[in-house]
Amino acid sequence: MIITPKTRGFICTTAHPDGCAANVQSQIDYVKSQPALPDSPKKVLVIGASTGYGLASRIVPAFGGGAATIGVFFEKPGTEKKTGSAGWYNSVAFEKAANDAGLYAKSFNGDAFSNEMKDEVIATIKEDLGEVDCIVYSLASPRRTDPVTGETYKSVLKPVGAPYSQKNLNTDTGEVNSVTIEPAEGDEIENTVKVMGGEDWELWLSALKEAGVLADGFTTVAYSYIGPELTFPIYTNGTIGKAKEHLEESAARMNEEFGGGIAFVSVNKALVTQASSAIPVVPLYISLLYKVMKEAGNHEGCIEQIQRLFAGHLASGGDPGLDEKGRIRIDDWEMGKEVQDAVHEAWDKVTTENLSELSDFSGYKREFLRLFGFGLEGVDYEAETDPERPLPSGK
Ligand code: NAI
Repeated sequence: MIITPKTRGFICTTAHPDGCAANVQSQIDYVKSQPALPDSPKKVLVIGASTGYGLASRIVPAFGGGAATIGVFFEKPGTEKKTGSAGWYNSVAFEKAANDAGLYAKSFNGDAFSNEMKDEVIATIKEDLGEVDCIVYSLASPRRTDPVTGETYKSVLKPVGAPYSQKNLNTDTGEVNSVTIEPAEGDEIENTVKVMGGEDWELWLSALKEAGVLADGFTTVAYSYIGPELTFPIYTNGTIGKAKEHLEESAARMNEEFGGGIAFVSVNKALVTQASSAIPVVPLYISLLYKVMKEAGNHEGCIEQIQRLFAGHLASGGDPGLDEKGRIRIDDWEMGKEVQDAVHEAWDKVTTENLSELSDFSGYKREFLRLFGFGLEGVDYEAETDPERPLPSGK
């Protein structure tokens, strides 16, 4: 099959297996180019391991610290006639590279929110690794079925209390327009907290504890975002922000239960991922931010962010470096005054006409396509390629 990108709004319905492999390899190469991480955890479980921040969180401890990794994700394998999802191909490529490097890697494709998935993963930890010393929780999902009640909850990306009007970018057409988003109604806030809050993170940790597979001195981390005031109504003070508050409460509860210093929330930088491209207003902010940070020479992608998370915080061999609210802040460069001032100046001026001059929209689009394995150097996109790629671990 010759695979080309088919984009619809903020989704691309195809993915290129060789491009995804090249993308994974470039992240591995980056990690190998950095100083090794001798204090990195050695048996790592990553929940949401196939794309974005979770994929980077699998690559860094594996290739920087020699860790055995178990990855959990919800992806689609390719068939003879249809391409799989990018996260599937990323995971196939990751496992192959890990095996070639002599590293243990197993993956589980299915619903991380379910009890069955937790049982299956725990059985494999018991059998293969005995225990885990780091659990990264990096899920981004639009829905969750409660494993006890069977009820399905949907998350929404809405402001709370009042409508929110702001500039917005139509990423299909490159048009800068404005958008008004009505506030959450009824139980939309609670439902978003149910999906994107910390309840399932805590359920994972309880299940791991009960099974006796948590190593002494283990750590666990989940990811959050704060960002600038202009996106507060849709993010930090919106429904997703409420879920992130709950994530922090979960970390505090787990620290209490396990004796402190084990559960962390890391506040990460805004980056193009499948999850962030679905949030209104954010793609325009990211396009302006990329331009400013690339010019300032401090732009990072997921892999650079997570390398810094492990090297500077989680596996630094000392102080995890927390802010006054007990969070890890790898969004520090994004939130620096000079960067924010420059983004705000551009925000006020940006229109459809000057978008390409003031923002890095072309970089945004390139990055978006790369998520699906398109536009990578060294990949022959004209060539026939097999969309069926089994996971080496066969799960
Ligand atoms: P992503 O869309 O790239 O990755 C989501 C992962 O969750 C994938 O591995 C997917 O397979 C998995 N997943 C989704 N539903 C699942 C289910 N039911 N069972 C098993 N796996 C499932 O998202 P991204 O952006 O990497 O987000 C990860 C975390 O980082 C989220 O908590 C997000 O809020 C946070 N974050 C993202 C930022 C961004 O700008 N992208 C910034 C700061 C934090």
